[in-house]
Amino acid sequence: MLCFQGEGILFENELKILADQDLMRHIRDRQTLKVPFSRKLMLNSTELVNFASNDYLGLSSHPKLMEAVIQSLHLYGFGAGSSRLLSGGTELHAELEDKTAAFKGTEAALLLNSGYTANSSAIPALAGSGDLILSDELNHASIIDGCRLSRARTIVYSHCSLSEIERILSEEKAGRKLIVTDSVFSMNGDIAPIDRINDLCLAHGALLYIDDAHATGVLGRGRGSLAHFGLKPADHIIQMGTFSKALGSLGAFIAAAKEITDLLTSTCRGLIFSTALPACAAAASIAALKLVEQESSLVDALWTNRQRLFSGIERLGLNTFGSASPIIPIQTGTLEQTIRHSEFLFNRGIYAPTIKPPSVSIPRIRLTTTASHTGQDLDALLNALAELR
Ligand SMILES: Cc1ncc(COP(=O)(O)O)c(C=O)c1O
Repeated sequence: MLCFQGEGILFENELKILADQDLMRHIRDRQTLKVPFSRKLMLNSTELVNFASNDYLGLSSHPKLMEAVIQSLHLYGFGAGSSRLLSGGTELHAELEDKTAAFKGTEAALLLNSGYTANSSAIPALAGSGDLILSDELNHASIIDGCRLSRARTIVYSHCSLSEIERILSEEKAGRKLIVTDSVFSMNGDIAPIDRINDLCLAHGALLYIDDAHATGVLGRGRGSLAHFGLKPADHIIQMGTFSKALGSLGAFIAAAKEITDLLTSTCRGLIFSTALPACAAAASIAALKLVEQESSLVDALWTNRQRLFSGIERLGLNTFGSASPIIPIQTGTLEQTIRHSEFLFNRGIYAPTIKPPSVSIPRIRLTTTASHTGQDLDALLNALAELR
């Protein structure tokens, strides 16, 4: 209970409103399974198949990543001790940046501590007052925060609406124009028409900032959304991606022209005012990039599983919000009904929690498929969903 000099509870009303609307969020930490599985988890002493992880390739527990972490831990210790611009960086951070730039086909790459940090601090470094940002209405919260912090005029366009983007770009006479979009939308699992948005950027002299958090390691044989659409990197395109999802590690990158990474190195507050990632996180990400490049079977297995689950769900006639990726959300009614459905799945050994507003406007169960799920896992989920119907 929070008290302030005997004046009573400070946040009682806010908490009550959240509880009354079923909007309280609860942290459910995993217990160990003794082996670091990525497809299973243990909660409240119950072993469950995990359909709520972004570890799409199962790399978080891959022996090569774990070995890279242990080796680098012995060489560099754990905490970085200071920001990259002081003494926090290591040769592994620099190696990861070089490998990321080569992987994405860009002149340079800059490492940041998380996808949240990248979006909330790189966007304000790229656009400011007098500039214009166009942002998709379903962009990730970290993009929304980056736009707010930028002080640029931000126009939110309807989800993936090319006609709105075109109209706004034709009408607005701003200094710099920046279009910001997720490539794979994290809560719908659909894919932005990056090729056609890029055409509009070229026609109107706008910069394109792509959040490839859920496309890295997933689309374009793992290389991301540009490869998926057969596009080449270009000076006006800024590719942000994360190591924290399909790459099984931690951190994020901005892959772009060197002029852009140079600017960010000197102005991006998330880089300047935050302790660098541990060297062992960079080591894990290097190992993960190598695996995606060398073991194409991982990405193949992810898509085989995705297709199998998606077809099964389609046969059940559930609304999947336009999913075209391993993120397959399903609509299961009101918030109360969706919470009950998640509980039903939990009792069938399946972990698939409810995604509540304000993360989404329509409550849903967000299923994610990974390369490590077995056919049995997928069938168990499909059978349980059939029972639910
Ligand atoms: C589209 C998108 N961008 C950025 C992020 C943030 O990435 P990170 O978890 O590395 O902070 C997420 C994670 O939820 C995301 O879904």
